[in-house]
Amino acid sequence: MGDTILEMKHVTKKFPGVIALNDVSINVKRGEVLGIVGENGAGKSTLMKVLSGSYTNKEYEGEIWVNGEKQSFASVSDAKKIGIEMVYQEVNAMYEASVAENIFVGNLPGKGWVDYKKLYKDTQDLLDQLGLQISPKTPAGALNSGQLQLMSIVRAMAAHPKIMVLDEPTTALTDSEVDILMNFLENLRKSGVSCIYISHKLEEIFRICDRVTIIRDGNVITSGDISEFNQETLVQGMIGRKVENMYVKSAHQIGEPTLEVKHLSVPHPTIDNRNIVDDISFFVRKGEILGIGGLVGAGRSEALGAIFGELVQGVHKEVKINGKEVTINSPKDAIKAGIGFVTEERKRTGFIQTMNILHNLSLISLYDLPKKHFIDRKVENEKAKAIFDRMRVKAPSMNTMVVNLSGGNQQKVVLGKWLMKNPQILFIDEPTKGIDVGAKAEFYKMMDELAAAGVSIVMVSSDMPELMSMSDRILVLSNGKITGEFSHEEAAQATIMKAAIANQ
Ligand SMILES: Nc1ncnc2c1ncn2[C@@H]1O[C@H](COP(=O)(O)OP(=O)(O)OP(=O)(O)O)[C@@H](O)[C@H]1O
Ligand SMILES: [Mg+2]
Repeated sequence: MGDTILEMKHVTKKFPGVIALNDVSINVKRGEVLGIVGENGAGKSTLMKVLSGSYTNKEYEGEIWVNGEKQSFASVSDAKKIGIEMVYQEVNAMYEASVAENIFVGNLPGKGWVDYKKLYKDTQDLLDQLGLQISPKTPAGALNSGQLQLMSIVRAMAAHPKIMVLDEPTTALTDSEVDILMNFLENLRKSGVSCIYISHKLEEIFRICDRVTIIRDGNVITSGDISEFNQETLVQGMIGRKVENMYVKSAHQIGEPTLEVKHLSVPHPTIDNRNIVDDISFFVRKGEILGIGGLVGAGRSEALGAIFGELVQGVHKEVKINGKEVTINSPKDAIKAGIGFVTEERKRTGFIQTMNILHNLSLISLYDLPKKHFIDRKVENEKAKAIFDRMRVKAPSMNTMVVNLSGGNQQKVVLGKWLMKNPQILFIDEPTKGIDVGAKAEFYKMMDELAAAGVSIVMVSSDMPELMSMSDRILVLSNGKITGEFSHEEAAQATIMKAAIANQ
């Protein structure tokens, strides 16, 4: 028993129509990092919500033992009291409050009033430990998604946990930010803190974990030392089959430019007299996948948002589609002009939580469906079902509310919505964030099919293998300028990285 800090025994958790966890047992030793892997909807987050007290002891069956004592959490704060901290998959922040206030919320220094001097100093110390270059006074709303994710980690760390749970902590991080996190976890391990680490990025699992537990459909498939596994056996355990040829790219015709953008400038959201996108021009051709690389904050998402009419204020742009000048002042204009946009932040802009899968999938396609006096539900259903099946969305049926889906399955719905709409030009921003390897391979296949059918795709991606494997051509943005352009054949990680830090 001695060095085992945590045991979860025979945990079963049911939702209406879904057995999310079926008699799951795991254990964690002092000072080790346990990886948990499994497909989207396997039950990983649910298991961690049981551990962190998000689900109370009355809402599941099974036992939690910490340091040889049986626990019974009635709330998140009960779990925190004995040293369990969780960093959730979806970032929750108070966007108006400062970074410092977000980190120390519920635990602000001072008696009766807040000791801001101490608050800022303590925060600075923590940020320094992680090597994060953010001021404690910055409002959280001004941070980019990577910084927000790191802030949530600092918040958990501020509580000096004994067991730290990280649920997909790197979905919004750049490679160098991932390095920061890995170093930090190394240090935690040395100081005897235990960690549970959930990720779809298997290279991270191999890099940081001592042991791994594979979950499939709510059941533990196996647990073992990481050295007992390789990429292939891990994937096989997760999805019950092999994934051959992850990145599908078929030979097909690339035609004339469909979208041409000239002199695109977007003002910086927080710095006056500065552009986050600074007078860039580019085009994408029929049947071409144009990848856009660069660091977080380089202006890539803003460029797409501005073309799509999501950002308007202070934006300058000249846009031609099929050689004709178009005016786009709103996303509605953009959709009419034949552009689709899979945005990065699905929670804010991707789907309507209170609608079911079917209606989310067909939301923007409704106008294309055969019109009688009313929408042809049969056609809607068939089209949506085809996407639902191909993407392997895990849900009892298409009537399931999107809000009840696991993180990765929500992302599949967002992608599916635009695949169903089948626009002439498709923007996708970090498409495979949080989706499992099986669904990823399927998505790349669909993207390739779209391109082969003549769709022009513009894909922002921080995932190097994805960017290099799927793009016909790559543009690199740095500080709002295009600093590199590479063909599929020329693209190499080193040259892309070099361009990404040019113009700094
Ligand atoms: N509040 C809820 N109501 C109904 N079903 C739910 C709820 N929360 C989770 N589920 C279901 O439980 C199952 C497990 O979900 P969970 O979020 O634990 O998956 P996951 O392994 O974390 O997946 P991902 O990798 O996509 O994050 C899924 O089928 C999901 O739809
Ligand atoms: Mg999850």
